Formats: sequence, structure tokens, C-alpha cells
Amino acid sequence: MKIYSPFIGVLLLLCLSCEDDTVGYNEIVKPNGKIAQFNELSAGTATSFLSSSKAYDTPAPWVTGALLERFNNGDLLYDNPYNEESGLGPVYAGYSCGSCHKNAGRTPSSLFSQGGSGNYGFSSMLVYIIRKNGAFFRQYGRVLHDQTIYGSQAEGKLKVTYTEESYSFPDGEKYSLQKPHYEITEWYADSISPEDLYISVRIPLRHVGMGQIMSLDRQELLKVEAQSNYPEYGISGRLNYITEKGVYQIGLSGNKAQHADLTVELGYSSDMGMTNSRYPEEVCAGQSQSPALYHGLEVSTRDMEDVDLYMQCLGVPARRYVNNAIVKKGEKAFYAAKCHLCHLPTLHTQATGSTLLNGTSLPWLGGQTIHPYSDFLIHDMGPELDDHLKSGLAFGNEWRTTPLWGIGLQETVNGHTQFLHDGRARNLKEAILWHGGEGAVSKELFKKLSKEDRDALIVFLETL
Ligand code: HEC
Ligand code: HEC
Repeated sequence: MKIYSPFIGVLLLLCLSCEDDTVGYNEIVKPNGKIAQFNELSAGTATSFLSSSKAYDTPAPWVTGALLERFNNGDLLYDNPYNEESGLGPVYAGYSCGSCHKNAGRTPSSLFSQGGSGNYGFSSMLVYIIRKNGAFFRQYGRVLHDQTIYGSQAEGKLKVTYTEESYSFPDGEKYSLQKPHYEITEWYADSISPEDLYISVRIPLRHVGMGQIMSLDRQELLKVEAQSNYPEYGISGRLNYITEKGVYQIGLSGNKAQHADLTVELGYSSDMGMTNSRYPEEVCAGQSQSPALYHGLEVSTRDMEDVDLYMQCLGVPARRYVNNAIVKKGEKAFYAAKCHLCHLPTLHTQATGSTLLNGTSLPWLGGQTIHPYSDFLIHDMGPELDDHLKSGLAFGNEWRTTPLWGIGLQETVNGHTQFLHDGRARNLKEAILWHGGEGAVSKELFKKLSKEDRDALIVFLETL
């Protein structure tokens, strides 16, 4: 049932452009007993009002009873530290989903704490390796597995160094950006010459709004794609498409929107070396350390659906301090710098909600007004962010607009402020200053704002 408060009714009359935000608005009572304002509700009825380190890792309010039991099972499996007895490896990148996505967020990366691949069985990133002609390396596959169980050898180790470059804003304020340089050492088999190698490093993504993303209204996305054409700002995004499970479809998850689902089967296989119904071969197949005998599938289809369910039933943190004067100033600056042309504030989910890996449906996710701050399109972000890796339709320089919901809580949840696909930005300001290509005009507009407005814009991001 939809109840409109008189206040919202008046707003509707006054402001037609607010209509989108208020249609489908359900009155939701916050823990403090007050009714939530529509712009606080990041994900309609799935909004949660927690701002602690568990803010990403809490069930949506409607997750109760049998659903909660499956959610809890998925949560356990997600955080379960696998070992060689339970199917991990022989080679892998992380030992559990939660090892890389701590508290359903972004585990601080070994890139910064260890200068590249972690030791002691732990690495918190994915390293994609590819030949310059676009082909994969036969002995290694798509992902560099830099960790192993006892007695096996890692495929290789990543090393990173950063060079610091200094710049200034038009008003004289200084800033600097750190540019990464990657190399791979200790190759398992054939050494790959750096001349024939592209390396793309990814830090984990936050699991904010996974169910909402899977439920996005595809017709609305097609409209957003058609509208994403602003020659005056050099912006024109497009949807990524990929063939998954034999179906050519819109890609939504991953840094290049290169996946149509939440990659649970791929996560188990490619990230953890665990065979399953979709990927029955060990990831080191073809290497001499590949187990000769077939030991059966290491994770069941039912368990994988529970992990899928867990992610899609997570609550999305509510926005905070929406009426604060500095926050409102920052929000204005966000629009003035045209951030919203890609980081689109409002979208809707399709009426049916979402369907999980084995066909279980989650109707609660349907028909919601959501505030992901993304258009889910891929954009050319310029040569500095080009990783030369083609994923679906996306070229090396094209990246999916990262949804910004929950971004202000990343430091609380994961204890760091590393941003962008490879974590090169050390704070929100640097993340903006790396925007190139279609994002260049927006970055320049940001640079030209007064210091007060720039700072307010950052404060606004911190309330998302
Ligand atoms: C070794 C670290 C690592 C492990 C282990 C890992 N992930 Fe990830 N995950 C990542 C990285 C890095 C990305 C970004 C990948 C990209 O864009 O190519 C990612 C992306 C994702 C995304 C896309 C999120 C979005 O917002 O689009 C989902 C969903 C996901 N992982 C789920 C899982 C699940 C489920 C597991 C366990 C089965 C898992 N991951 C295990 C590192 C990891
Ligand atoms: C042309 C589209 C576009 C515009 C305009 C744009 N962005 Fe982005 N933004 C992106 C894309 C694409 C990424 C992902 C880039 C990557 O990871 O390499 C991104 C990433 C970010 C991130 C990092 C998110 C994270 O969790 O790592 C922040 C913060 C951000 N943008 C803020 C802004 C702000 C603020 C503005 C306005 C000043 C803005 N963006 C303008 C497309 C855009």
C-alpha cells in the first residue's frame, strides 16, 4: 500500500521534477521514530538505517523467516574461509568471498600494504593478464592466480610501484596523484615478456545494492542509454552487452559491466579455484600441478544460490544528513559539475524484482525507486584509465559508472579510502581528478569551483 503524506502531496504539486522521486514512495519509519524523507531512501523498502561497520552487511528489513535462514546460510558460505580440504585451489586469488569483500565491502588491498600480491595465502584484488593481441595466455588463463595451497606454485606475483605527480587547482590549491606501474615476477611456467602483456588490476567492489542492480528496469536503462548524449559536455554512454549462459544480454555488474549476474559461480571458480556446475574444470587445468583426478564439484548449486540470495537481500544504507546546509551546497555543486549526467541519482526496479541462479524469485525487490548514482552505462574515461582489456563491448578505456550509494561509509566499513577500479585514488577528491575522456569536462568544472564548493561536494558524497 502506498501512503502519501500531505507534505509529499504539496511537493508533488509544487515541483513536477520531484514526481519521479515520490511515485512509489512508501512511508518508512526510521529507528528514531521519524518518517524517512524520500531522498534518504536509497533503495525504497530495502533501505537500512545502519551506519556502522556492518552498514553494507545487513539484511533488508523484509528479510525474515525462511528467507532470513537462507540469507544467513549464504552469509556463512560467503565468509567461510575455504582450505584445500574444502576445495580451495590448487591456485587461487582469495580464500573466501569475504576475504576480498570484507563486511560486503572492499577489503584494504595488499597493493598498498604489501606492494602487490599478498603473501601468506592472501591477495585482495584480481589481476587480469592478456596478450597485446587480445588473446589469453594458454598456461595462465584470464586471471593471475597469485596464491596457492601448500605444495603448489603460484602462477606469478604482482608488484606495483607508484609515481607521484603534482598539480594545482586554478585557485592555487595543490594536489597530487599517484600513478601505478605494474610488473609480474615469479611466473609459474613460461615467462611472459612485458612487451606482450597488458595487466589490469582491480580492487574489489562494494556490495551495495546488488539485488537492486539485478532488478533494474531494462526498458528504463535503454531510455537512459538513448538520452546519454550530451555533445556540449562530451558525454555519451552506452550499455555493455555480453553473452552469458547462451543469452546475449545487458551487462550490469563488474567495473566494465561485463557480467549479467553476480558472478557467484565465477567467483568460486576463477577467484577461489573451486569447481562447480558452471565451471567444472580446475582453473589450473593445463598446468602440471592440475590434479589428475576429477574429485567432483567443490561447491553445490544450492549453496551458490544462497550466496546469490545473501548478496541480493542486503539492505542499502540510507543517506544521512540530507538537510544539512553544507550537504545541500555540495549537492548543488555535484549538479553544477555535471556529475549527475553519469552518476544518475534516480532509477527504478522492474515490477517483478529479481530471479536468483536456480530460479528463486525475490519479488520484494520489484517496483522500487532507487538512488544508485549511476547510469550503469560504460563511458570512455580517457587514456590514463585505459587498461587495454576488452570486456564484452567495453574497450580498455571504457568503464561502468561506479554506483556511489554507500560510498560515504566505505571508510567506516573497510577502514580505507582507496577508490577507482584499481584503487589508485587515495580519497574522493583524487577519484574525481582522475576522470578523463567523457569525464574530463566534469573534472574541469569541479576544479573551477570555489574551494568551499569543492569541499562541500566531497561532504555531499560522504552522505551517500
Ligand atoms: C581475490 C579477491 C576476490 C574474491 C575471492 C572474490 N571477489 Fe568478488 N570481486 C573482486 C574484484 C577485484 C571485483 C571487481 C572485478 C571486476 O570489475 O572485474 C569483484 C567484483 C564482484 C562483484 C561485482 C560487484 C558489482 O558491484 O558490480 C560481485 C557480485 C562479486 N565480486 C561477488 C563475489 C563472490 C560471490 C565471491 C565468492 C564466491 C567473490 N566475489 C570472491 C574480488 C574478489
Ligand atoms: C562521463 C561519466 C562520468 C562523469 C561525468 C563523472 N563520473 Fe565519476 N565515474 C565514472 C566512471 C566510469 C567511474 C569508474 C572509473 C574507474 O573506476 O576507473 C567513476 C568513478 C567515480 C568515483 C569512484 C567510485 C569508487 O567507488 O571507486 C567517484 C567518487 C566519482 N566517480 C565521483 C564523481 C563526481 C563527484 C563527478 C563530478 C565532478 C563525477 N564522478 C563525474 C563516470 C563519470
